[in-house]
Amino acid sequence: MEWIPAFAGMTGYVMSFEIAGLKFRNPFIVASGPATKHVSQLIEAERCGWGGASLKLAIEPAPYINLNPRYRWWDQEHYLAFSAETRLTPDEALRLTEQGREQTKDLIILANITYTGDKGLDGWLAMAKRFVDAGAHALELNMCCPNMSFNLKVSGERNRTAQSGASLGQNAEIVGMATKIIADAVDVPVFVKLTPEGGGIAEVAQACFENGAAVVGTTANRLAIPEFDIHNPKRGPFRFQDQPSMACFSGGWLKPLALRDVFEIRKKVGPAPCVLGAGGIRNHTDAIQMMMCGADMIGICTEVMLRGFAFLPAILKNIEKFMVRHGYDSYRDFRDIMVEAITPADHLTIRDVVAYVEPELCDGCGRCTRIGHCYAITLKDQKAVVDPNQCTGCSTCQDVCHAKAISFVRR
Ligand SMILES: Cc1cc2nc3c(=O)[nH]c(=O)nc-3n(C[C@H](O)[C@H](O)[C@H](O)COP(=O)(O)O)c2cc1C
Repeated sequence: MEWIPAFAGMTGYVMSFEIAGLKFRNPFIVASGPATKHVSQLIEAERCGWGGASLKLAIEPAPYINLNPRYRWWDQEHYLAFSAETRLTPDEALRLTEQGREQTKDLIILANITYTGDKGLDGWLAMAKRFVDAGAHALELNMCCPNMSFNLKVSGERNRTAQSGASLGQNAEIVGMATKIIADAVDVPVFVKLTPEGGGIAEVAQACFENGAAVVGTTANRLAIPEFDIHNPKRGPFRFQDQPSMACFSGGWLKPLALRDVFEIRKKVGPAPCVLGAGGIRNHTDAIQMMMCGADMIGICTEVMLRGFAFLPAILKNIEKFMVRHGYDSYRDFRDIMVEAITPADHLTIRDVVAYVEPELCDGCGRCTRIGHCYAITLKDQKAVVDPNQCTGCSTCQDVCHAKAISFVRR
């Protein structure tokens, strides 16, 4: 992979890069979802400077679950959840691929595909070839969707359908085989989008790279149970949907888990392979954090659903400012900083400190005296007082003190 500093007229100084012969003008792609279903969206993504777009999942044979979408956004909790979603049929997605190629110039178009028919790997290969023929710059094998067979299994309906998405994606051997048979046969880069379900994402990623994947990506949505009304639980939270259900979670809530997924993959596969990180990216800080945990490329879906495409230039500008401030020439200079820095629990240096209360700031509210695991703080004359022999330095009191009266000093 080659990093090339470049100027992109609209956004100022950004970084383009090349992976397996494919040149992205920057590392940001609109991740597969409802914002990559129509050619008008691809045109808008290009206009707003996105490096690429992964088209909405195409399933062959035609998707066996294909309901009108039901989305909810929980603003305070920072998560979006969907219970139902419309996928593309192969014909719709092939047409979209062709239209995207005809009507955009700089946007790299990834075909996000899943085969669920009875032809197994041959079916995967035939499907992949059709998308290459339609003009896809790259393929993205969907080994991540939690809303098809994985949802059915978790919801209690076992083995009704062929394994796909988050069920199939846990199996390093099969994912590796699918990657190999396709990567050997097509002349475009193969991306594989993985699931953290099953706990072995780094091993699956390694199998993908060993079998010819150009890029491994994560994280897709996590399957979970959204908020519901305890007084009317069977109604569920989704508007115009009669039953409660599992839902696929994305957005800011997902970021800490997604950082871990990318970190684990990078730690396992080393510095050379290209990793695409998605999950809860909303601004330049999130994106930089993702890169510092090992990502070369960034995918964003939920934020585009909520805000449209036009926020990308601000992210690029702010990353540029960050790079200038720290003297970085390319994203590669700060990628992996956290991969090195994250220290195993048995090697942590824990400094010996004790809480100090500034009496003038303490308003005697008593919150710090009620901390369930702490016996070090009591109130005397309406002021918090610390017993240094009881204080472990855990620092919870600093977090609960609304008067900002607590700090820590060396013992
Ligand atoms: C409504 C919705 C539909 C999605 N559909 C797909 C899909 O078809 N294929 C896929 O690989 N990922 C799909 N995703 C996952 C996203 O591409 C992305 O990996 C995930 O949402 C995490 O990123 P985010 O927090 O920026 O949304 C979908 C996400 C949402 C919210």
